[in-house]
Amino acid sequence: MRVLITGGAGYIGSHTVLALLEDGNDVHVVDNLSNSSTESLHRVARLAGRKPGFDQVDLLDEDGLDRVMREFRPEAVMHFAGLKSVGESVADPLKYYRQNVNGTVSLLRAMERSGVRRIVFSSSATVYGVTDRLPIQESAVLHSVNPYGRTKLLIEQMLEDVADTHDEWSVARLRYFNPVGAHPSGMIGEDPAGPPNNLMPFVSQVAVGRRPRVNVYGGDYPTSDGTGVRDYIHVVDLAHGHLAALNYITDRSGVHTWNLGTGSGTSVLEVINAFAQVSGKEIPYHVTDRRPGDAAASFADPEKARRDLGWSAKRGLRDIVTDAWRWQSKNPDGFRINPDSAV
Ligand code: NAD
Ligand code: WQD
Repeated sequence: MRVLITGGAGYIGSHTVLALLEDGNDVHVVDNLSNSSTESLHRVARLAGRKPGFDQVDLLDEDGLDRVMREFRPEAVMHFAGLKSVGESVADPLKYYRQNVNGTVSLLRAMERSGVRRIVFSSSATVYGVTDRLPIQESAVLHSVNPYGRTKLLIEQMLEDVADTHDEWSVARLRYFNPVGAHPSGMIGEDPAGPPNNLMPFVSQVAVGRRPRVNVYGGDYPTSDGTGVRDYIHVVDLAHGHLAALNYITDRSGVHTWNLGTGSGTSVLEVINAFAQVSGKEIPYHVTDRRPGDAAASFADPEKARRDLGWSAKRGLRDIVTDAWRWQSKNPDGFRINPDSAV
């Protein structure tokens, strides 16, 4: 299939581009490179043995999108492009509404103009807000506690409204839990600009010596060791979930929603200990106050994805940490410096 990938130079997008190429699809990426570089795609090309197409286009540039649609003639779109920092969305909500919501409006309009009506969208478990009803099913109440999450909720709703206008629309809304890890080659992985907001890249930067210690946000949660519990899912499993979802919607119309998670929870201290073990490095940490807006625990009920898609996560914490460490230790400065160090 010819698949257009928005945000394909980024963390999850680049792993999915690779999985799509390996599966024999033709892939074209549009990305404005605001949070990535083309180095990820060069490495994907080396791993896959062939190149994805690429255009540096911003989602808000409708003419640019029209041109790509005309030239590439996609049969489906996977939509990863967007901004994802919760804290930044609180400080600058309009930036998030503009990039995420307006960006998706622009993309959907371009799809309508070119008659492409198949889309897989990167949603997030953030649409469930903070809940103590675990594991979380797709039918759970939706409410978001920050502007980033509200952009995801709005886009999910918008996709339903658009799909209602025409029988041919087929939409997959994938609610990711906590994507982590890296490709086992160590050639592509997560490369946050500035201090990481998320736990796993922060811990790996401490392990590699880029940061002195991890702040553990809260040691008094009602969890096994008092620290927050999350459903960490290997990015390669996540990429395969996209292929399964695309396959499912290829001959089915309507809007379909799946959690992509493992179904089990891991605490902050379990992550830190696993990382220390795998890397052989000391990982200093200290327990600080809770981070506002954080849930004690969050993990998926992944049963619907297993039933409908035949997909489930294959990789556990050990694989996640091993692959994250291989990526981080081969590329201590990510993609930016010494781009050949991973080869
Ligand atoms: P990422 O920042 O690595 O990738 C996003 C890509 O989109 C980047 O390459 C960026 O340059 C590009 N982009 C951003 N705005 C754009 C625009 N207006 N036009 C064109 N390109 C643009 O992030 P990621 O972790 O790979 O996340 C991908 C998607 O998954 C996002 O929509 C994110 O909200 C969602 N998601 C991520 C997580 C996570 O923890 N990483 C969890 C749930 C959902
Ligand atoms: C995990 C655990 C923290 C950092 C976020 C977004 C969510 C989704 C995934 C996009 C929590 C603790 C963290 C640190 C810590 N993204 N922690 N020290 O908050 O579950 O989800 O990323 O859609 O929308 O909110 O992930 O990795 O930030 O935190 O102790 O330096 O690690 O309190 O318990 P989170 P996270």
